[in-house]
Amino acid sequence: MPRRIKIRTASREDVDDIIAINIECLPEHYPLSFWLEHIEKWGKAFYVAEVDGEIAGYVMCRVEQGIGHLKATIRKLGHIVSVAVKKRYRRLGLATMMMIASMTALRDEYGVEEAYLEVRVSNEPAIKLYQKLGFTIVKRLQSYYLDGEDAYLMARELGAEIAEINVPPFY
Ligand code: COA
Repeated sequence: MPRRIKIRTASREDVDDIIAINIECLPEHYPLSFWLEHIEKWGKAFYVAEVDGEIAGYVMCRVEQGIGHLKATIRKLGHIVSVAVKKRYRRLGLATMMMIASMTALRDEYGVEEAYLEVRVSNEPAIKLYQKLGFTIVKRLQSYYLDGEDAYLMARELGAEIAEINVPPFY
């Protein structure tokens, strides 16, 4: 059966659904105030995916000023803080579409030059997703997570071309 997919920015009304997805999908959780802060301050880059009206996933970002991971100059950085898609909606391209939308907003709305994120070294699906989106591994962060697992720090420039891959149309 065809599904209606919508990629749109998040609002405060979505936060309960977003938190429920985060709890279902990831071991890293945050207080309500943290989610609301991201919607309020960097909401143009906070995307959700809806499938037939149900929130199926999200990408939450923040904008920081700091030394780049790819260029050692002070620059605006887009930190991809949390990404998740409900199990039953995976491999439909939702994370890809939300990431492209978030990166485009980071560049066009906030003037971000570089996007970066941390990912568990064991998280192959996410590492593959980010590689496909043009991120490369910059360094390994020892014992980054509370359970002691290392992270890869991955980054990419947000130049003129955000998506060099074919993505399904936005409905
Ligand atoms: N195994 C291998 N590669 C995978 C994969 C898997 N299980 N899931 C995604 N990928 C890679 C593939 O290259 C895929 O392209 P393809 O389907 O054409 O082969 C590409 O990523 C894009 O996949 P997409 O459909 O856009 O991703 P998704 O909507 O299924 O979401 C995650 C991907 C990682 C967000 C999702 O699996 C998830 O929520 N995982 C749990 C939370 C998590 O780990 N978040 C990231 C924390 S850093």
